[in-house]
Amino acid sequence: MIDQPIQCRVADWIQDKDALKSIRHRVFVEEQKVPVELEWDEYDETATHFIVTLSGQAIACARLKSDGQIGRMAVLTGYRNQGIGQELLRFVLRTAAEKDINEVYLHAQVSAIPFYEKQGFISVGEIFYEADIPHREMLKKIC
Ligand SMILES: CC(C)(COP(=O)(O)OP(=O)(O)OC[C@H]1O[C@@H](n2cnc3c(N)ncnc32)[C@H](O)[C@@H]1OP(=O)(O)O)[C@@H](O)C(=O)NCCC(=O)NCCS
Repeated sequence: MIDQPIQCRVADWIQDKDALKSIRHRVFVEEQKVPVELEWDEYDETATHFIVTLSGQAIACARLKSDGQIGRMAVLTGYRNQGIGQELLRFVLRTAAEKDINEVYLHAQVSAIPFYEKQGFISVGEIFYEADIPHREMLKKIC
């Protein structure tokens, strides 16, 4: 269990790029076998990125696109199931509200749907596949 407070903050894609890329590579490319060419896209340049640190070490990340899509939510394996993902998601939602985004959406891996339901996201539409992983769209009104 972690015994220090974590810090959630808005990241800088240039300055924090190595840390963000390292987390996403470990979680999505290595662990979940997402093809590396799908992991990085043009939205990384313009999205708002988030980083969580523990004692200065980057352990989790997420991003928010300007159209309200939350994605690339990842917590390193050794730090899961301790509330870090939920705290990060709350921080992302607060930031979206500050940006006057009325509704956020995401493509949830089906296994992670209960994680998002805990913060009021609702599933819509059919299951679809991205990187061979079943997903479902989820929405949440925030303003
Ligand atoms: C999904 C993820 C970000 C959750 O982060 P986390 O720090 O482990 O989550 P938390 O500890 O804050 O919250 C876990 C809570 O959500 C619930 N939950 C439901 N499905 C879950 C799932 N697939 N993964 C994690 N938690 C899940 C847990 O039961 C727990 O509830 P509880 O606190 O009442 O016991 C993390 O597991 C992860 O990085 N997974 C790999 C990447 C991924 O799948 N990202 C999501 C893409 S849509």
